[in-house]
Amino acid sequence: MNKPLLSAGAARNRELWDLRASAYQAKHGGQLTASGGAAWGVWQIPESQLRILGDVSGRDVLEFGCGAAQWSIALHKLGARVTGLDNSACQLAHARVLMSAAAIDFPLVHSDAESTELVGDSFDIIFCDHGAMRFGDPYRTIPEVTRLLRVGGLLAFSMYTPIMDMVFPPETVHPGGFLARKYWDLHALEESGEPLAFQLPYGSWIRLFLENNLAIEGLVELCPPAAATSSYCSDRDREWASCWPMEHIWRVRKKSKMPTAQLL
Ligand SMILES: C[S@@+](CC[C@H](N)C(=O)[O-])C[C@H]1O[C@@H](n2cnc3c(N)ncnc32)[C@H](O)[C@@H]1O
Repeated sequence: MNKPLLSAGAARNRELWDLRASAYQAKHGGQLTASGGAAWGVWQIPESQLRILGDVSGRDVLEFGCGAAQWSIALHKLGARVTGLDNSACQLAHARVLMSAAAIDFPLVHSDAESTELVGDSFDIIFCDHGAMRFGDPYRTIPEVTRLLRVGGLLAFSMYTPIMDMVFPPETVHPGGFLARKYWDLHALEESGEPLAFQLPYGSWIRLFLENNLAIEGLVELCPPAAATSSYCSDRDREWASCWPMEHIWRVRKKSKMPTAQLL
């Protein structure tokens, strides 16, 4: 079977994430490991506190844009059957180093999340923390997630909020105080030299989930603890995030197929 073709965005992101993988891990790997791996977002709020994924023990779990697989390693220790997928071979090389240090082994897949060669109906949970749901085109990743999830399976992913993306236009380093990007234009967020990121207006996210047989269970907006620090953000950014939602986590679940009679 021929490998699926990379979209232009995925090809660009593969090149840029390969180039920056080592610098990224040098800057952020310490924080990701220190918080135990299973923690959400730039402020690393623990999964044990948010309980987004539920009990993962014995579940088939796919991390969609796993980076160095800090999350997958932590979930493997909790008894999940984990697969880590990433578009960047260099990020996966870092994952192999961490897995070997932890004496843990699970499948790592080098693939673009927009179009994988994984077998359908294979996973109970697909998730990412600022992973492929942020850096892949949702009009391609969401149908792929629906294909890969079993009925009743959970998709959970964190990313920046539309508000954050509107006040944080290209060539700036902090979220600002005014809406600099048009809400209706939210889709591919381009910035010279940066990986392509994606965002949608809220209504478009909801329509996309529903059109792909995904029922919405929640949208968890993250507020940093008062004393939080981050390798991604400054104290000034934390002040901003304590006033407006900087990151959120969508939780959606694959529904059973509608009986044919209801479709008519
Ligand atoms: C910010 S990292 C998130 C990984 C991890 N949670 C972390 O915090 O380091 C984003 C990851 O998404 C991966 N990625 C970007 N686009 C992707 C795509 N289309 N398919 C799969 N992975 C992708 C990148 O290679 C990178 O490793």
